[in-house]
Amino acid sequence: MMSLASLAFLLVLQVSEVQHPVPLPADFDPAGCVDCHAAKKEGKQVHAAVETGCTSCHTVRSDDTATFVALQAPPAEMCGTCHAPQTDEVVHEPYRQGDCILCHDPHASEHPALVRTSPQALCTACHLARRTEGATVPLFGGREIPVETFRKFPKIALDRAQRTGHPYLGHPVSNGEDPFRKGQPYSCLSCHAPHAAPVAKLLREEWKSLDVCDRCHTEMRNRRAQP
Ligand code: HEC
Ligand code: HEC
Ligand code: HEC
Ligand code: HEC
Ligand code: HEC
Ligand code: HEC
Ligand code: HEC
Repeated sequence: MMSLASLAFLLVLQVSEVQHPVPLPADFDPAGCVDCHAAKKEGKQVHAAVETGCTSCHTVRSDDTATFVALQAPPAEMCGTCHAPQTDEVVHEPYRQGDCILCHDPHASEHPALVRTSPQALCTACHLARRTEGATVPLFGGREIPVETFRKFPKIALDRAQRTGHPYLGHPVSNGEDPFRKGQPYSCLSCHAPHAAPVAKLLREEWKSLDVCDRCHTEMRNRRAQP
């Protein structure tokens, strides 16, 4: 298990007030925030909290000369005010750290569940070995982490096209429909939960039973057999 300190890089906290580049009147209606920040409401998915209003997460304070903005709470605590934490036994380290905004855009996204990139790209950014130059490794959403930290994450092996090779040589990790979760693409999330899970290695509920391999493959055959 990694020490808490070694992961502290993950959190980018901006709870303290910063001066807003544009002064706003003291009686400014927060419904007008999007007039200048339209991008915060653009994407296939817009966070329901953003629809509710910017001030569900941001504070705004104006005096005679300037306006100051801050977050209502550190992101790690903010998300928890509306989303109850998962209580499964096995917890993913970034989730345990409360680093929700590592994987999720708090405002809007092109990807389901407001994640910053496709699920596979999200997971392989940390769990697939890659050639590195320099002191930091780029992840996604503008995040970079120290090379030494990156090297400590457990790694999986995949073929060049990143379609097969895990958990066994030749086994696919992408392509087609998820046999267990109807309507979802087959991906890392077909076997793993991103936050917490009841089985070791963050394996989903289905892995509690010994015939998990068989059930998934049978489900797949049944769907193919359907006209
Ligand atoms: C008249 C245009 C305008 C309005 C209205 C406006 N903003 Fe901004 N805001 C900007 C610009 C320009 C920036 C700097 C560029 C950027 O970060 O998008 C900015 C930056 C910010 C930042 C980043 C500050 C930082 O340096 O970390 C936050 C947070 C923010 N705005 C929140 C709000 C909220 C909340 C409202 C509504 C109460 C609001 N803004 C209304 C123009 C505006
Ligand atoms: C669910 C909570 C939440 C809501 C609602 C929300 N924000 Fe944010 N916002 C955040 C968090 C958390 C950050 C810090 C992100 C980071 O550090 O990467 C942030 C950062 C920002 C920033 C500066 C960094 C950036 O991503 O550009 C701006 C500007 C901003 N928000 C504007 C808005 C506006 C405008 C609204 C309303 C339309 C809004 N936010 C609604 C949580 C929220
Ligand atoms: C003010 C309350 C509030 C806060 C704070 C809040 N959320 Fe939400 N969030 C909601 C509501 C309401 C929904 C829609 C109902 C649901 O899916 O639970 C939602 C939905 C979501 C979804 C599901 C989106 C989808 O389309 O499936 C994600 C992911 C999410 N929030 C992440 C976050 C993260 C990350 C934070 C912290 C930056 C956060 N939320 C903070 C209220 C909030
Ligand atoms: C390692 C990346 C990662 C981290 C860290 C993370 N999430 Fe998620 N989250 C995901 C992915 C991927 C999904 C989509 C899950 C799926 O399709 O089954 C998701 C789904 C969600 C949803 C939609 C409903 C659900 O549970 O499936 C909510 C709400 C949510 N996350 C909130 C949070 C909050 C709050 C935190 C921080 C305490 C957090 N997430 C941390 C990757 C992450
Ligand atoms: C920011 C980097 C990061 C991202 C992104 C990330 N993980 Fe992890 N993951 C970690 C860390 C840190 C650990 C804990 C390593 C340890 O305990 O030594 C971990 C552990 C794991 C483990 C092993 C858990 C155990 O109990 O041994 C699995 C499985 C896993 N992650 C799957 C995923 C999946 C699936 C995704 C995409 C949804 C993902 N990870 C995204 C950093 C990340
Ligand atoms: C068909 C199911 C399945 C799929 C799909 C899958 N995994 Fe796994 N994964 C497993 C199993 C089973 C284990 C445990 C293997 C073991 O302990 O040897 C595991 C273990 C892991 C571990 C822990 C490795 C360690 O050394 O502790 C990581 C990290 C991981 N998977 C990431 C991923 C990522 C990233 C993806 C998507 C590219 C993915 N998995 C897709 C079944 C799957
Ligand atoms: C979440 C669903 C899922 C689970 C669970 C799963 N598999 Fe698979 N497996 C697949 C998919 C999808 C394929 C691709 C098969 C196809 O397209 O016909 C596959 C293919 C295979 C193949 C053929 C690979 C090749 O070389 O062509 C083997 C062998 C296999 N799985 C073994 C296992 C074993 C052993 C387990 C349990 C430890 C397991 N699988 C669990 C989804 C799953």
